[in-house]
Order: sequence, then structure tokens, then C-alpha cells
Amino acid sequence: MYNEKVMEHFTNPRNVGEIPNADGMGEVGNAKCGDIMRMYLKIEDNRIVDVKFKTFGCGSAIASSSVATELIKGRTIKEALTLTNQEVIAALGGLPTVKIHCSVLAEQAIKAALLDYANKNGLTFDELADFN
Ligand code: FES
Ligand code: FES
Repeated sequence: MYNEKVMEHFTNPRNVGEIPNADGMGEVGNAKCGDIMRMYLKIEDNRIVDVKFKTFGCGSAIASSSVATELIKGRTIKEALTLTNQEVIAALGGLPTVKIHCSVLAEQAIKAALLDYANKNGLTFDELADFN
């Protein structure tokens, strides 16, 4: 069902954990099945300098979180906001159709963490997107 790249990220996920006093934390989930994904961001000078995740979910959700953290680490806030689940899927070399929503969780968790950062800093989401 899963390709080698997905299996590799599932069995050896990158950036697992939490960031104490994270600058932004986003949690998303699917109440129906109980899957939860949390993303923690450390942001300096409008750039994501560290990111960690905790995912209670299926193999694709873990692989999606793992590859998503690799994709956004080092990006500016503006660049991180452009991350889509399609980019996550492409970086994983594809996901089975029934697992597409797992990659959507990764995109949403990152956006939620950035929104949390905006809220903490008294910014609107639009103002956040203006940062370079
Ligand atoms: Fe839980 Fe899809 S089955 S998110
Ligand atoms: Fe629910 Fe993948 S996160 S099936």
C-alpha cells in the first residue's frame, strides 16, 4: 500500500517531539477517528528555525508530518504559509487516495501553528502573510 519513501518516514520520522515554550503550536484532528496532529514552531526573525511534531494517527499521518517538518524548516513564515498537502504528497512520492486527508492534516496543523503565532503576537493572519 505504501511506497518506500512513506515507509521510511513512518519508521524513521524526523523532528518528533515537542518544543517547550513554542512560538506557535497547532493542533488539528479528526474527531471521528481520534487522530490528532500537533506541530510546534520556533520562529526567529520571521523564519522557522525549528519544528517538531507529535502525531497520534496512521502511518501516512506520521509520514506526512515528518516530511512536512522537513519542508518548512528554514522557511520564512510567508514561504511556510504556501505549503500545501499536494507538496507533502509529492515529497512522499505519492499517497494512496484513501490517505490523502492525512496529508491535509499536516498542512492544517502547520497553518494552525502559524495562526497561533499570529495570535500571540497580535497579528492578523493577513498581516502574517505579509512577512518576508
Ligand atoms: Fe482519521 Fe482519516 S481516519 S483522519
Ligand atoms: Fe487518519 Fe491517516 S490520519 S487515516
